[in-house]
Amino acid sequence: MGPISRRDFVRLGAGAVSVAAAAKSIALEPSVLAAQSAPSDRKIRFVSIGTGIRGCDLLRSAKKVQSGVCVGTADLYEMHRKAGVEAYGSEVPTTKDYRELLDRKDVDAVVVAVADFQHRHVVLDCVAAGKDVYCEKPMSHNVADGLAMVKAVQDGKRIFQAGSQRVSSTVFKKAAEIYKSGRLGEVTSIEAYTDRNSPSGAWVYPVAPDASAETIDWTTWLRDAPQRPFDAARFFRWRCFADYGEGVAGDLFVHLLSGMQCVTGINAIPERAYSTGSLTHFKDGRDFPDLLVTLYDYPGVRVNMHCNQNNAAGDITIFYGKESTLTINGNTLTVTSQDTRPQPEGYALDGWTAETKKKYLDDWHAAHPQAPAPLPATETYSAPQGSDDTADHLSNFFQAVVTREHVVEDEVFGNNCAIACHMANHSYFHKNVAMWDAASQTIKG
Ligand SMILES: NC(=O)c1ccc[n+]([C@@H]2O[C@H](COP(=O)([O-])OP(=O)(O)OC[C@H]3O[C@@H](n4cnc5c(N)ncnc54)[C@H](O)[C@@H]3O)[C@@H](O)[C@H]2O)c1
Repeated sequence: MGPISRRDFVRLGAGAVSVAAAAKSIALEPSVLAAQSAPSDRKIRFVSIGTGIRGCDLLRSAKKVQSGVCVGTADLYEMHRKAGVEAYGSEVPTTKDYRELLDRKDVDAVVVAVADFQHRHVVLDCVAAGKDVYCEKPMSHNVADGLAMVKAVQDGKRIFQAGSQRVSSTVFKKAAEIYKSGRLGEVTSIEAYTDRNSPSGAWVYPVAPDASAETIDWTTWLRDAPQRPFDAARFFRWRCFADYGEGVAGDLFVHLLSGMQCVTGINAIPERAYSTGSLTHFKDGRDFPDLLVTLYDYPGVRVNMHCNQNNAAGDITIFYGKESTLTINGNTLTVTSQDTRPQPEGYALDGWTAETKKKYLDDWHAAHPQAPAPLPATETYSAPQGSDDTADHLSNFFQAVVTREHVVEDEVFGNNCAIACHMANHSYFHKNVAMWDAASQTIKG
């Protein structure tokens, strides 16, 4: 920066001081969604298919939701069946064969938390049985699966909620409100990342001591995936393998993408995606890279996403606007306004004589008698203590099952996010730019 006169310093510095003094910290109101009963006071009777890691978490959250009650669970693994009952905390009937649950007339809805490659056939069975569905993210294992699920849900007039719970988070909802108010100015670029390049973050999950072909129905689990003998590591670490999961994109990008769609209101498939990455730390025979970086072109905005650059365990989304920057870091949202007041040039005056510089500055001040007052520098919003996005997301689904109105993350929203994940992987594995071809509904490149 070139020298700025004392007068400039006072003018600009005074502004900066008032900016800093205007920082605000606001606690968001707790969500009341989970505490609400269903509109008709009728509790939605739901069953859970898949009571592994996520299925149990969903059941724990479901206990807080007034509008639904779990009336059955299913899993192919003995211990997971017991864990599901334990997670819900009351005796619910449990079975190995989910079709028994779908045959029941007293069941309104199904929560599906099976591995990604199993989503399509389980969801299609639920829809065929006339049930509404909450299906875990990423909605699909590939583009064809997602399109088939959208068609089945729409043809069957079912309520469908995709399970990226941050769409129901108070912090993301506040961010959407701020974004829509136009306060950020034009947003031309968004950056989002999750860093957890640790064994647990990279899904090196332990094999349970009792896991065997006797305790796990491996044939049913594999269904139409490439057949292979029982492999406990694949059962517990399915995210690492392309036959069952979609790696970092399907596991982590999908949350970042759903958060981005929720805040911006963009509900579309990106026009193109370009990925790079590497398998750096976890060379254990997995199919996917442990570091993935993807650049997306969405209508009107560039999105830069990366996961596992290091092990900082951060989950951050940044919306860069011309007026302000909005950052969501875990449960905290910060809006930082930029100083957009006109300012006299500093640097370029370094090569000017004192006399020319003075004239320039005098003229500049004459043309800018007073700079507009700055916006507050930062506003920080934090999620209320004990907030549970999953409980709120389930609650939104149960309410919609009664009202038949829209959920916050329907099949089209979920499918758009999932296709963006598939495009990231397509680009990485084909070493090319992945383009969405709307005419053929396929990824090209
Ligand atoms: N929203 C989130 O934050 C979040 C977090 C973790 C996982 N997930 C998603 O949840 C899903 C499940 O992941 P997970 O970590 O719980 O996996 P998991 O392997 O721990 O559990 C899946 C369970 O599904 C069961 N299953 C599979 N096919 C079945 C069938 N035909 N009938 C009955 N049970 C069957 C398996 O036996 C297993 O116990 C995945 O789609 C994953 O991406 C979402």
